[in-house]
Amino acid sequence: MTLPPAASLHHGAESFYQQWQRLNDWLVQHHELWQPAPFTDPCPAWVQRWPVLAEQVANLSDRDCQRLDDDPGALAALLGRELPSLQLFEGLTRVPLLYSGSAGPSTLPEVRATDMPGRKRLQSGAFAAAIRPLQHDVLDWCCGKGHLARTLSPWCDGKVSGFEWSQALVEDGNRLAGKFGDAVTLHCQDVMAEELEMPEAVHGVALHACGDLHRRLMRRAAHGGLPRLSFSPCCYHLTELRYYQPVSRRAGGCPHTLKLTRENLRLAVQETVTAPQRVRQKTRQVSRWRLGFDGLQRCLRGTDAYLPVPSHPPGLANGDFAGFCRWAAKKKGLELPDETDFDHWERHGERRFQEVRRHELVRHLFRRPLELWLVLDYALFLEEQGYDVRLGTFCERQLTPRNLLIDAVKAGSTQNAQGLR
Ligand SMILES: C[S@@+](CC[C@H](N)C(=O)[O-])C[C@H]1O[C@@H](n2cnc3c(N)ncnc32)[C@H](O)[C@@H]1O
Repeated sequence: MTLPPAASLHHGAESFYQQWQRLNDWLVQHHELWQPAPFTDPCPAWVQRWPVLAEQVANLSDRDCQRLDDDPGALAALLGRELPSLQLFEGLTRVPLLYSGSAGPSTLPEVRATDMPGRKRLQSGAFAAAIRPLQHDVLDWCCGKGHLARTLSPWCDGKVSGFEWSQALVEDGNRLAGKFGDAVTLHCQDVMAEELEMPEAVHGVALHACGDLHRRLMRRAAHGGLPRLSFSPCCYHLTELRYYQPVSRRAGGCPHTLKLTRENLRLAVQETVTAPQRVRQKTRQVSRWRLGFDGLQRCLRGTDAYLPVPSHPPGLANGDFAGFCRWAAKKKGLELPDETDFDHWERHGERRFQEVRRHELVRHLFRRPLELWLVLDYALFLEEQGYDVRLGTFCERQLTPRNLLIDAVKAGSTQNAQGLR
């Protein structure tokens, strides 16, 4: 296969393709650690293969689990003591910062940020700071109420528009733009529509557009020869396809490319839940019950296999474990014997819950590598389409874990020629 020339604008000496290859090989090498879902698979093969590693995580306290979940570098260092190849994590996931630390001036002042959650305001400001200066009309893809569009507007001499399919959000966004005198117009538009006519010569931007939506933006931008495209992807798993289809020729053509299911893709964005304490407690309790019922149903059916149970009516969470089991058994057409020892199975669920938490921790080490593997595929695609690509973070992980930004400028466009990057 002939490869296009390596891009000139990414960090260090390593090309995106080399970085993608290294990540791909590493993820393939360790697939046993991240592919099985701990909730449905109590005995993943890696526990037998690396018993010392399994014991090490089994002995972690809840506090350690939380601390390590928030600090993937420390997690890699710890797990890397038993499995040294895991220490490559840091080097494999390093990307440049596309921000200088002070997004201040680019952030919409609070008095103008009506209806804009605080984090969204800061994320939009950081995004704007990372892609300024702006040289073209701007199109905000899946813009919601146009928070990003309104943030970019003061920095853009041309027109700023947005596509969003929710009529209510478009109306709200246009009302806000009118109220604050922003030169922003949002249009009600399904971006997946085949008949969508892409405006010409616009700079496409998207903050947290989900799976197929950002992939459609890339394809439409490349096809329409847009001069620039800047987006931070999210929810990679929101796709019509059962298996991830690499977008770039190089990732798609590699014989050892990872084959990822939608469920695997979900891991890239799986975060520790930041819901209020009371909600978290309820969710955990139901998870324990589900795991308890799982043990019970395996025993009753004499089949050591997970049985998916549909989502439960909210009121059920206020009852007890036995009530949950009766409901779940009915749903699955199982008969519960009168002598069922609910206390035993409830304790089983608690034990499994602790185990799942620790196996999930190991799996969580692979979230960022998977995400970067995907985003590098996007960077490769855009290179193949004649763009110079920057890939890095636009803000701290604390502001949003979805902090990767792709900024692609069509080779030979004014922005590139003027050396503004
Ligand atoms: C995660 S939100 C991001 C919104 C906005 N970019 C922001 O950061 O505030 C995704 C947005 O995409 C919109 N959306 C989903 N599917 C769409 C489609 N097919 N066409 C246009 N907009 C769509 C949703 O209504 C939602 O507003």
